Amino acid sequence: MTKVMLLENIHESASERLAEAGLQVDRRAGALAGGELHEVLAANELIGIRSATHLHAEDIRHAANLLSIGCFCIGTSQVDLAAATAAGIPVFNAPFSNTRSVAELVVSEAVMLLRRIPEKNTLAHAGKWAKGAAGAFEARGKTLAIVGYGNIGSQVGVLAEAMGMRVVYYDVQPRLSLGSAKAAGSLADAVAHADVVTLHVPATPRTRNMIDATVLAAFKRGAMLINASRGSVVDIAALAQALRDGRVGGAAIDVFPSEPKSNKDAFVSELQNLPNVLLTPHIGGSTEEAQQNIGVEVAAKLVNYLTTGATIGAVNFPEVDPGPVDCPARLLNVHGNAPGALAALNTLLAREGINIAGQHLETRGTTGYVVTDLDKAPSAELEQALAALPGVLRLRVLRRDEAGAAS
Ligand code: NAI
Repeated sequence: MTKVMLLENIHESASERLAEAGLQVDRRAGALAGGELHEVLAANELIGIRSATHLHAEDIRHAANLLSIGCFCIGTSQVDLAAATAAGIPVFNAPFSNTRSVAELVVSEAVMLLRRIPEKNTLAHAGKWAKGAAGAFEARGKTLAIVGYGNIGSQVGVLAEAMGMRVVYYDVQPRLSLGSAKAAGSLADAVAHADVVTLHVPATPRTRNMIDATVLAAFKRGAMLINASRGSVVDIAALAQALRDGRVGGAAIDVFPSEPKSNKDAFVSELQNLPNVLLTPHIGGSTEEAQQNIGVEVAAKLVNYLTTGATIGAVNFPEVDPGPVDCPARLLNVHGNAPGALAALNTLLAREGINIAGQHLETRGTTGYVVTDLDKAPSAELEQALAALPGVLRLRVLRRDEAGAAS
């Protein structure tokens, strides 16, 4: 029976999905390292981790039987992806599962800032009654500028329009406008007339401090800024100054250039104690639903790879989606991307009189992945000979009768 170990309290939705597929699932609450991790890597065909378990090249050397790694989170920087690729191991993650959670938070923060709730809330807790309409606005009819109109940015636009906001966005790539959203030609154009600006770009050299004193000076006076993307995108000192000057009327910031490593470490920011500022501890995507979705999404990718060889969504691998096994056997061959690999494979198959019903090769960098559907299953000897071909990193045979049961 195929064995999978889930570390770091991965959501139960993953165990359920994996068990349904016939796998033996073991779970541990914490992260692992060193000898304990190596034992787990050697004893399981699949491993599920979150961000606290680090899989270095040295760890991956202990993973001779490991077929795939599931990162039950968004990022994959905790895995040495080059080492995993060189070992023929695809790595899967869940890049979209928490996007709705971020979008909902952002839209609700826009309302909170426009109504100046952060400062009214602070005053109420301090026993002060600040009833009044001055400086409080509806979201309806206001302009929201979305910087980065990808998975999250575009969802924010849809939710904001549902409340009657006008949406303008700026992206470096041409994007399909959803609803009535309008593309701006530049960042300056996007922010110039916005009442609220929200950032949804990745951390790249180009987005580092993209919201600096110059861009903040181009904001409409009193506009709000929301950042639930990456901490490097906003020059925090410039934002603090713009808030003190009243150039920016409020801010909701979820991500910071430097964040505490754990909940036990202190959090310090220049934005603390400024009026109309909401500070949250990088929880934009942290909801029960997102965790559940992540469990289902990554488990499904692992099961799909296990039972069909599909690598769609792998972060480090050539992507192939061959569909269910509907021939007697399917051969999955991962090899160093060198000339002659396919010819050598096909020659050995022909020598045993096996006909190729279908074949799909994809390459990525130094890795080649070829999926071959066969009209009969190879003998054990042929399987050994195929695995021993020069440059072969991994070889696996899926037999039609077994593929559904993941055994
Ligand atoms: P995505 O990749 O779907 O979208 C990013 C968009 O930004 C793309 O359309 C891209 O073309 C655009 N872009 C890239 N460079 C740009 C530039 N210089 N100027 C304008 N547009 C640019 O990413 P997704 O999933 O929407 O995530 C957006 C951000 O949110 C990422 O930084 C991600 O790390 C962060 N995030 C934060 C979470 C939190 O807990 N606060 C949770 C999930 C994601």
